[in-house]
Amino acid sequence: MSTYFYDPRQGHGLPHDPFKAIVAPRPIGWISTVDAEGRVNLAPYSFFGAFNGNPPIIGFASEGYKDSIRNVEATGEFVYNLATRPLAEAMNQTSAPLQYGEDEMDFAGLEATPSTLVAPPRVAATPAALECKVLQIIRLNDAEGKVLNSYMVLGQVIGVHIDPAYLKDGIFDTMAAQPISRCGYRGYYSAIGEMFEMFRPTVTTAK
Ligand SMILES: Cc1cc2nc3c(=O)[nH]c(=O)nc-3n(C[C@H](O)[C@H](O)[C@H](O)COP(=O)(O)O)c2cc1C
Repeated sequence: MSTYFYDPRQGHGLPHDPFKAIVAPRPIGWISTVDAEGRVNLAPYSFFGAFNGNPPIIGFASEGYKDSIRNVEATGEFVYNLATRPLAEAMNQTSAPLQYGEDEMDFAGLEATPSTLVAPPRVAATPAALECKVLQIIRLNDAEGKVLNSYMVLGQVIGVHIDPAYLKDGIFDTMAAQPISRCGYRGYYSAIGEMFEMFRPTVTTAK
């Protein structure tokens, strides 16, 4: 069976680029930082993921040298705030292209609360937040070796905050937290509709 195939370098030939709809849903790294003067910045990044468990390492990527990149370069710290359905509109507000140094947390009407080990505050209303130390800022390049104006930040989680309302018998209740994800195209998001359980195979004989 033939597929609809294209090489993105030659264009997709469709009404809209499907890439972000295919790599979906993407969790949203809602990233708070401060600049060298301590001014707060908050922005969503759906080029975001968790890359290591022990120690926990997360990362996000910016297309362009945005304020969050400038701040993590200056301070070496950031905080991940879990973006949830009740906070969706506020999260979206924080993607507004404000002047450098203007506080999106304030702009979106969100209350900030101090972090424990890093300078950037966290969003008070989020069910969970991760305080991070920057490990690497990687400037991306393409297949031809051309250096891109895109930056990937990896950070080690050094502090975890969980709202006790979402801890049930010691288990973080993801369903109750209602995390939202980005689905591509303009304005599409998803929330969790189902959680199912599946265990990894326990194969004892090596082939
Ligand atoms: C849900 C969502 C996800 C986004 N993901 C990204 C992303 O992964 N990379 C990026 O460069 N911009 C992304 N943006 C756009 C940035 O949030 C926007 O450019 C913002 O102004 C950057 O803020 P800053 O300059 O304060 O860092 C996203 C916006 C939204 C609403």
